[in-house]
Amino acid sequence: MQTQHLYFLKTYYLQSITNPASFQAEKINNLFYTFNIAAAAMLLLVIFLVIYISIKYREKKDDTGEPKQMHGNKKIEALMIGVPMLLLAYFFYETIHVEKQIAPPVNTSQQPDVIITGHQWWWEVEYPGSGVITANEVHLPVGKHLLMEMRSADVIHDWWVPELGNKMDLIPNVNNYLWLDIKKPGSYIGACSEFCGAEHAWMRINVVAQTQNDFESWLAANASNAMLPQDTITMAGARLFQEKTCSNCHRIQGTAASAMIGPDLTHIGSRKEILTGLMKNNEDNLYKWINHPQEIKPGAHMPDFILDKDSVQAIAYYLNSLK
Ligand code: CUA
Repeated sequence: MQTQHLYFLKTYYLQSITNPASFQAEKINNLFYTFNIAAAAMLLLVIFLVIYISIKYREKKDDTGEPKQMHGNKKIEALMIGVPMLLLAYFFYETIHVEKQIAPPVNTSQQPDVIITGHQWWWEVEYPGSGVITANEVHLPVGKHLLMEMRSADVIHDWWVPELGNKMDLIPNVNNYLWLDIKKPGSYIGACSEFCGAEHAWMRINVVAQTQNDFESWLAANASNAMLPQDTITMAGARLFQEKTCSNCHRIQGTAASAMIGPDLTHIGSRKEILTGLMKNNEDNLYKWINHPQEIKPGAHMPDFILDKDSVQAIAYYLNSLK
């Protein structure tokens, strides 16, 4: 487990709301700063008044008895009520305005660019129109007004990638929508932000934002069927995958495996991570996971099939070959 945690530290401490990379995140960030600046100005004003009044009206040597008393002052009262009311109205207006900019109404007859389905504990990613289905590594193009449809296959999850802006809940039997205009290519890390069970903490999000060209080549590559096994070990792995019930839950396009219960594995070898950010994707880690899933991600819905070492090795080798 140690190496996994080190991997986590290296990869994930970079999440930040102060580095907006989308139109939506920029708008939210500006609003956040406006609020903070106003609050700081207010705080400074109050501190200044407390100090100023304490010094100016402190008890002096020749003071005798009570200072002059004052009852009611319409001007000050009007200011005390009026100024906060104006500020509230301003911030209310700004908040609604930003909300409208980042989440304009959705015409549900419009085909979304991507459909994200939350599962315990991974993300299904579908690109309607292209036939591409993948998992966990969410590739998106930069500079496009993207419409994302958010669904859930089980319980409530919540999508949040701080650099890309607002959160969105994924609720069973409800389609939620998120608009996203990414401005900078890069890798953006997020996390499920609604407690969804034992492995909620390991429901990380990895968005890979690419230029339109890079995204299109990625999409084209991922629309293709899985690579055919080329050598004896991969052939054995492919056969075991179908025989040992892996295919009851997973899909590998171009093979008999078409189930959508677990993550799609058609091009799993090309992904950087497995188990939503828990481990780097390589043959060793695939082996560890398939060998004893419950030791690696306790509670995950993948059972331990108690396979012999050679079978696990062959399956891991096969999956790793699916670039
Ligand atoms: Cu999914 Cu928390």
